[in-house]
Amino acid sequence: MIKIVDDICKHPMHPFPARMAPAIVWENLKTDERKPLSVLDPMVGSGTSLVIAKALGHKAIGFDRDPLALLIAKVWCSDVEKEKVKLKAKTVIDRAKKRYRTLTVGKAYPRNADAETRAFIRYWFDKINRRQLAALSDAIKGIRNENTKTFLWCAFSRLIITKKVGASLAMDISHSRPHRVYDKAPIKPFDKFEEVVNKVLKSAPFEKGKQNLPKAQIQDGDARELPLIDNSIDMVITSPPYLNAIDYLRGHKLSLVWMGYSIKEIRHIRSTNIGTEVSCRCDSEKEQHTQALMEIGSIDKLTERTKRILLKYAYDMDAVMSEIKRVLAKNGRAVFVIGDSTIRGVFVKNSKLIKYLATEHGFSLQSDIRRILPEKHRYLPPPNYKKSGTELQHRMREEVILTFRN
Ligand SMILES: C[S@@+](CC[C@H](N)C(=O)[O-])C[C@H]1O[C@@H](n2cnc3c(N)ncnc32)[C@H](O)[C@@H]1O
Repeated sequence: MIKIVDDICKHPMHPFPARMAPAIVWENLKTDERKPLSVLDPMVGSGTSLVIAKALGHKAIGFDRDPLALLIAKVWCSDVEKEKVKLKAKTVIDRAKKRYRTLTVGKAYPRNADAETRAFIRYWFDKINRRQLAALSDAIKGIRNENTKTFLWCAFSRLIITKKVGASLAMDISHSRPHRVYDKAPIKPFDKFEEVVNKVLKSAPFEKGKQNLPKAQIQDGDARELPLIDNSIDMVITSPPYLNAIDYLRGHKLSLVWMGYSIKEIRHIRSTNIGTEVSCRCDSEKEQHTQALMEIGSIDKLTERTKRILLKYAYDMDAVMSEIKRVLAKNGRAVFVIGDSTIRGVFVKNSKLIKYLATEHGFSLQSDIRRILPEKHRYLPPPNYKKSGTELQHRMREEVILTFRN
């Protein structure tokens, strides 16, 4: 593996649940001789696919609807001016310390935060950290250069989205399962800010003026309605959300509220994302996708409500597949990395659903590879994991890589 790809594997930009293994992207792109390809990830998450694509000289294009995912992916793929960011980080911490002295607890909220967002902040952050985070976020908001600002937001978020030791009262935020365990947060943002800025800079693979690689294009967009023209993409590589497996925004909102998002706005994004527990209401959706649903697993054991949630997932993934078909050039490849999951104790074969939908849309299957997940990537085993049967335990340890040709 070339050094830059090796570095990317070792230093992820920011915690993100169920990240794609960089080696999968590298394996799929290294052999392509035509350069540069247009590589699309329509559900980009933290941007693993695109950062590798860019490192290999391809034009990387990505969409997501989670503002924190977009922020991380943009930072990871951008050409950084390291010295400029370090200098700005110093200015930010100085300004924040000054502001802190006069900032009362009653005012220690993001500007214009509504009552619900304020209550959320009071629940998850202690008084000192509320003041420090409000002062820091205010100082970051004042930065004019968008690139530098995004970098510093990413560092700011790393203070909060951690497994055990962070600036909030919660643990397990990085797995999107925050639960409040502390009376006082284990770290003070002012003590750690410059350290996290250095971590972010260490994880940044591209430097302005050094590598001269194509600029990545990452923006807010829905995979079910891509703002791209027909046949414009050479390769799609993506890992769709697993049904019911990870509620990304549940953890991400602890950072996003400081960046100016209200709980109401975040709730709206979450409820309209793919893979969340929103059930299908429309009967025409039902008819169209019942066959797709049959591929998923033993659905008879599920309640009517859960079946409708599955139906909505099938409906959404059908729309994603239709868009991928539209934007992919003739002979282009589409690679899906997908894990199966459990819903209400029933094993759900997401990978079979993807295979079914891709075939329905006229793709031909090129390969179907199962890969054992490394221990630390096995996010979110089912609650009764230890008690569950050996077959299920085995399945939770693998993911499926499906490659299709247009
Ligand atoms: C499994 S994660 C992708 C992880 C990514 N491959 C990585 O390495 O970080 C799935 C992503 O799909 C996104 N997503 C869900 N619904 C979406 C939609 N309608 N359009 C675009 N992205 C969506 C989620 O926000 C999440 O970031």
